[in-house]
Amino acid sequence: MRYGVERTAYLVNESRARRPELARDPLAAAWIPNDERGGVRALWEEFAGEVYPYDDLVVSLRGRYIADTLEQALVKDPDTVLVVCGAGFSSYPWLLPFRTALEVDLPTMVEAKRLRAAELMDAGVIPRRDVRHLAADLGTPAGREAVAAAVREIAAGRPVAYVAEGLVFYLPPDEARAVARFGAELDGHAVTAVSYWPAGAAGNRVLADQRLWFRRHQVPEDASYLTHDELPGLLGGPPVEDHGPESLQRRYLDRVEVPESDLIPEYVAVSWGSAA
Ligand SMILES: C[S@@+](CC[C@H](N)C(=O)[O-])C[C@H]1O[C@@H](n2cnc3c(N)ncnc32)[C@H](O)[C@@H]1O
Repeated sequence: MRYGVERTAYLVNESRARRPELARDPLAAAWIPNDERGGVRALWEEFAGEVYPYDDLVVSLRGRYIADTLEQALVKDPDTVLVVCGAGFSSYPWLLPFRTALEVDLPTMVEAKRLRAAELMDAGVIPRRDVRHLAADLGTPAGREAVAAAVREIAAGRPVAYVAEGLVFYLPPDEARAVARFGAELDGHAVTAVSYWPAGAAGNRVLADQRLWFRRHQVPEDASYLTHDELPGLLGGPPVEDHGPESLQRRYLDRVEVPESDLIPEYVAVSWGSAA
């Protein structure tokens, strides 16, 4: 398992693996080889004890909403190309019948994902799909330009669905905004889905405990926050659909089981572009 910010990809994968139906991700458990799963589970239990025990809820809700959004994009145009930034061990290209997808992450994560995807496709656990893997630092203009060039070539005029999930808060403020804005700037932009922490929730108790845990696990603890007001300007909207953990619980569980004050305050903003 990797140290640094990449470690969070293992943590949130375990969160989805614990709630596959809510997350709508039956493939989550497959991403981590059996000999590593025990270590990932132990990491998750430690995080649950020291930070909060509901990461399975928060991460599964955000993933479910994004999966439902991407399904709508495919209904509008089955030729939509999926671009996932900070892809980690998310499963969207194999959960939904995208003809082409591009996943972007830091080099060590890209290597781990590429290898595991090949193993799982060979074993028939996940379907064979045209998924490209690109290593790029999304926190730099050069990294984003490399992604934009790859998208131009791969999408070749087709609509693009853009996802940045669980990523922007780890980047410095200007880079976080650039990554949020990036989807709307791509040729063929059909839809953007970005998860973020709102500035108004920066004092949240769970985030404070998470900072201490991050420090011990060598995950950078500085975070960037966005405000609800700036989303339309960043995402190419209005309108922007903007759902936090309470509204997603109402949507998928019919009631609020855990109040936002006891959760990581992760919101998902969705904006449909002109190509949708
Ligand atoms: C919390 S994980 C989320 C992974 C995935 N989106 C999910 O929801 O399961 C954050 C991901 O962002 C990636 N990441 C963080 N900083 C990055 C950067 N500067 N460039 C590219 N990827 C980055 C990490 O490697 C990790 O895979």
